[in-house]
Amino acid sequence: MRIGTIDVDKGILLAPMEDVTDLPFRLICRRYGADIVYTEFISSDGLVRDARRSMEKLRLAEEERPVAIQIFGGDEDVMVEAAQRAEAAGPDFVDINFGCWVKNVVVRNAGAALLKDPVQMQKLTRSIVDAVKKPVTVKTRLGWSRDAIVIVEVAKMLEDAGAAALTVHCRTRDMGHDGDADWTWIPKIKRAVDIPVIVNGDVKTPEDVKRAFDETGADAVMIGRAAIGHPFLFAHAKEYMATGTYTPVQARERISTCLEHLRLELAYKSPRRAIHEFRKHYGGYLKGLPNNSLCRQDVVRYETYEQVSERMLAFADEMQAIEELSA
Ligand SMILES: Cc1cc2nc3c(=O)[nH]c(=O)nc-3n(C[C@H](O)[C@H](O)[C@H](O)COP(=O)(O)O)c2cc1C
Repeated sequence: MRIGTIDVDKGILLAPMEDVTDLPFRLICRRYGADIVYTEFISSDGLVRDARRSMEKLRLAEEERPVAIQIFGGDEDVMVEAAQRAEAAGPDFVDINFGCWVKNVVVRNAGAALLKDPVQMQKLTRSIVDAVKKPVTVKTRLGWSRDAIVIVEVAKMLEDAGAAALTVHCRTRDMGHDGDADWTWIPKIKRAVDIPVIVNGDVKTPEDVKRAFDETGADAVMIGRAAIGHPFLFAHAKEYMATGTYTPVQARERISTCLEHLRLELAYKSPRRAIHEFRKHYGGYLKGLPNNSLCRQDVVRYETYEQVSERMLAFADEMQAIEELSA
């Protein structure tokens, strides 16, 4: 798959996720083999108003490339200016969110709302493509509702507007995150367009990654929720695709990666914010480890890195002892 100067074969990409795919998490996922990472979506309105939280999300690091900045919005002039500001921050490409289902986004005619007006979606895309030099890609869903699936038509319109690639979260807007993602639309989209098509939705395991490539013929696979607290999935999926098996990650590596992720957050945010916002990641890093709930209950209450680190390292010792006994 080629997007501008980026060339990735059977790429496994980290999905944009608000409050999750900040710079520290993107760095961790790149290290474990994510081929392209995406920022959290950034409000176009926020960018043109220089809102602090939006501007902060533009911060990129060389080591995370290739990286895309994702923007959302509903007003054409604002989106064009926001795309130019995003481009000036130096991403490898700019991605437009036409898939967010949440109410306060769609009431502003942004995100998945555009699935009800593909002509406007095409117009916005064309204006942004014309306004920036970097490639522009789109991430969207199958349609507004299960009885209004428009993705094949939309894909052709976006290709015509100059989109460099299309990511499809294989659900409709009315499904939110419920129900199964329907990957069967991907081959139909692939037959309709020549631009790269990226499949997204319900890819949770290395086996799913292989199945998503095999069943859909997609050019790349994008992983969202399953990577939260489990960036190892990218490495596992690559190993599985190459060899048909993968080496599970030991408890100590999970815990040391978790602590390193937290240290990166502390370097990037205020201590209080870093510690509090990090709490959503512990569940994923500890998932499946025997008796992890006590450790988790403790660390989500702690206010300092030292407390978290001491508790987690003690838990790693316990886990190592168990692993050695069962070896
Ligand atoms: C916490 C969270 C935040 C999300 N934020 C965004 C976002 O900012 N932009 C976007 O395009 N999709 C966003 N999504 C949707 C994901 O990118 C992805 O399309 C969806 O979770 C389905 O993929 P999955 O089954 O691999 O999680 C978000 C999803 C979650 C769970």
